[in-house]
Amino acid sequence: MSDAVPQAPVNERVADPTQPARFPAGETAGGAPPLVAQGLHRTYRGVAGPELRILRGVDFTLNWGEAVAIVGASGSGKSTLLHLLGALDRPSAGSVRVGGTDVAALSEEEAAELRNKRIGFVFQFHHLLRDFTALENVMVPALIRGDSPKAAELRATALLGQVGLGARLGHKPRELSGGEQQRVAVARALVNEPYILLADEPTGDLDTATSRDVQDLLFEMKERHGVALAVVTHNRELAAKAERVLRLREGVLDNV
Ligand SMILES: Nc1ncnc2c1ncn2[C@@H]1O[C@H](COP(=O)(O)OP(=O)(O)OP(=O)(O)O)[C@@H](O)[C@H]1O
Ligand SMILES: [Mg+2]
Repeated sequence: MSDAVPQAPVNERVADPTQPARFPAGETAGGAPPLVAQGLHRTYRGVAGPELRILRGVDFTLNWGEAVAIVGASGSGKSTLLHLLGALDRPSAGSVRVGGTDVAALSEEEAAELRNKRIGFVFQFHHLLRDFTALENVMVPALIRGDSPKAAELRATALLGQVGLGARLGHKPRELSGGEQQRVAVARALVNEPYILLADEPTGDLDTATSRDVQDLLFEMKERHGVALAVVTHNRELAAKAERVLRLREGVLDNV
């Protein structure tokens, strides 16, 4: 695998983000926003303790190309909500629609395919595969999608170049700094050209200067790839970079 960065094989998202013509017919029928959640409830049933009613009617719309920050006290249910929005978990009641598709109507396999193709995730801890290089980590979602190894390598190489890691392709996670690991995670999140990027405390594990770099990268990549971003954070500086800030409190989401 060479260190050379090929000429932009990743599609540049310069088209009008309100015209998502590149998605399968029907998926965004009627101009559906990338993500709409209505009346979301999530209750955890304690084995010994009482029921925990964490989300109690959350309504949320993420529009094409926008960035929304979700803040709230620790334990308020931000990660719970993000998991529902990303079709990683199912609500106790209410609905999540991704590009107009009701997640509840999908089988586990179909939900996995939807996540793979339409949603990029960045978590507080990078969750990179430790025995794989940066390049291989970024290639994984593309290979899962069915891309050829060559195509996956080209796209992953280009993305790692965009996140400033063109010279670190062969490094394993332990051979990268915390900030670099998060950069790989951002590249991996975008390799399949999703239209939604969900981030949960993406800078929570980084020092102030590195946190700033990763914040800037996140917004730069959001613009470059035309994705809609929902980011959960305790970091005020990061929240302030979003167009809207919503607060989760007592199970509902309100404008700040
Ligand atoms: N799988 C689970 N089973 C039972 N309770 C859970 C489960 N996941 C989360 N909880 C509880 O739900 C509440 C919300 O958790 P969540 O992780 O969503 O909070 P958070 O807002 O992301 O907090 P933080 O800012 O600390 O990350 C917590 O009280 C937690 O203990
Ligand atoms: Mg959390």
